[in-house]
Amino acid sequence: MSYETISIERKPEGYVVLTLNRPDKLNALNIQLLDELREAIAEVSRDESIRGVIITGAGEKAFAAGADIAELNRLDGSTGREYSERGQRVFSMIEQLDRPVIAAVNGFALGGGCELAMACHIRLASEKARFGQPEVNLGIIPGFGGTQRLTRLVGPARSAEYNLTGDMIDAATADRIGLANHVYPPDQLMAKAEEMMLKILAKGPLAVRKTLEAVVASVDATIDDGLAIEAEKFGECCGTEDFKEGTLAFLEKRPAGFTGR
Ligand code: COA
Repeated sequence: MSYETISIERKPEGYVVLTLNRPDKLNALNIQLLDELREAIAEVSRDESIRGVIITGAGEKAFAAGADIAELNRLDGSTGREYSERGQRVFSMIEQLDRPVIAAVNGFALGGGCELAMACHIRLASEKARFGQPEVNLGIIPGFGGTQRLTRLVGPARSAEYNLTGDMIDAATADRIGLANHVYPPDQLMAKAEEMMLKILAKGPLAVRKTLEAVVASVDATIDDGLAIEAEKFGECCGTEDFKEGTLAFLEKRPAGFTGR
């Protein structure tokens, strides 16, 4: 499929780099972009040969500076809820994808941009990154998961502060409070994201998927339900060739050759 507001580069190592591509609007998420993102993630989901996704923003300044405010301005009491749910569905698809999604946050990640980054499994940030939920400045609240995922990531008090003040969160602070996994100089960000992706792709693909499924499920599960999911996935892994190969390779003191079976 061809896209206008995003671009997808397929890497020979088996992952894709998905770039939000409206740099003149700081990659603001308009409806077309959200629809294209949904299609792209659905495409990845169907294509078993794609084993991971890195999401980043085009240009020097932004990952994504939020939902498109020109479009927001046209919403009213009868259309706002559906708009919010539409964005939420796309971001939940990302979170539920059973392949690793790494956000390489290269600049502003505000509003919907912060919410998109938070739907990814791992966030790597450039020193120039600025996170935040400034919706309150516009007379609305976050609509693509910001009140929920920020709270889960940094706790209710910090989430309340950032959602209520709209303050930007610099990269060092994001790192400290657990919003960013790591911070790198801007010119190293993509190389570091690719390095982490390759490290993950060298593991057994089935174990990677089942790990992700269990980790993502843990967010909403009770400890007993989460442990039940873990035991189920663990059992499934034990039935795979990759498990036999991984354990045998250790015992034979050689690198494992995983096949994804
Ligand atoms: N929606 C629509 N357009 C946006 C946008 C958004 N969320 N964020 C930036 N843009 C557009 C600007 O309107 C401008 O377009 P123009 O050149 O046609 O006038 C262009 O992107 C560049 O933005 P600009 O504001 O000139 O850049 P800046 O470096 O001075 O400021 C920001 C950067 C991020 C601080 C500022 O753009 C901003 O506050 N954006 C909105 C952030 C926000 O509230 N997001 C939450 C939305 S729910």
